[in-house]
Amino acid sequence: MVEKFLDKAYGVDDPDSVRDLYDSWSASYDAEIAENGYATPGRAAKALRKYISDPGGPVLDYGCGTGLSGLALKLEGFAVLDGADISTEMLAQARAKNIYRDLSELDPSAPPPFDKGAYAAIAAVGVIGAGAAPIGLLDDLMALLDSGGLLVFSLNDHALKDRRNKGRMNEHIDTGSARLLHAKHGPHLPGIGLKSSVYVLEKT
Ligand SMILES: C[S@@+](CC[C@H](N)C(=O)[O-])C[C@H]1O[C@@H](n2cnc3c(N)ncnc32)[C@H](O)[C@@H]1O
Repeated sequence: MVEKFLDKAYGVDDPDSVRDLYDSWSASYDAEIAENGYATPGRAAKALRKYISDPGGPVLDYGCGTGLSGLALKLEGFAVLDGADISTEMLAQARAKNIYRDLSELDPSAPPPFDKGAYAAIAAVGVIGAGAAPIGLLDDLMALLDSGGLLVFSLNDHALKDRRNKGRMNEHIDTGSARLLHAKHGPHLPGIGLKSSVYVLEKT
């Protein structure tokens, strides 16, 4: 029987346990998540596409996992994708999909190893919240954007329950460092009755 991970995923929080979880899950992640109707990548890619006139520029898929978010971005017409993740084994699955120009393995205790302004658009789909990266990642990703750059990210219902997560996004908006272009709550993993909000922020 194939081991299931979804019920364990939201209980881990320290970076080493998160990496171990995704390394172990990598081979069966796509099947388990598809079984539950994973909808957020498609919603996020569509939301980002609405605000990008030319999808030909490089997009950074941060926390790309096995590449399901990359596939959704490709389907929306984003031609050049770079992926990054902390899990070697998730990256191996992403590499096998042959959709990324480049893939980087990240150290979760270090700032993202990318130059400011290298990407006009960044995606972090299913990456912030319980079982993945802490909300500080939002600050790190916004810091990578030049003015006018876009970040699409999602918070699932578990992440929304922790008010610090949305609170941090609101700080960016309230202090004028970002403009909220899109916020929509919708299906995340319908198979387990979980929804998510997808946001598009523009760096001001
Ligand atoms: C739920 S999966 C989402 C993967 C992919 N974006 C998708 O939509 O299928 C979360 C991913 O975030 C990665 N991750 C967790 N913490 C991270 C961090 N601090 N920085 C970057 N990626 C991280 C995990 O290794 C995992 O591949």
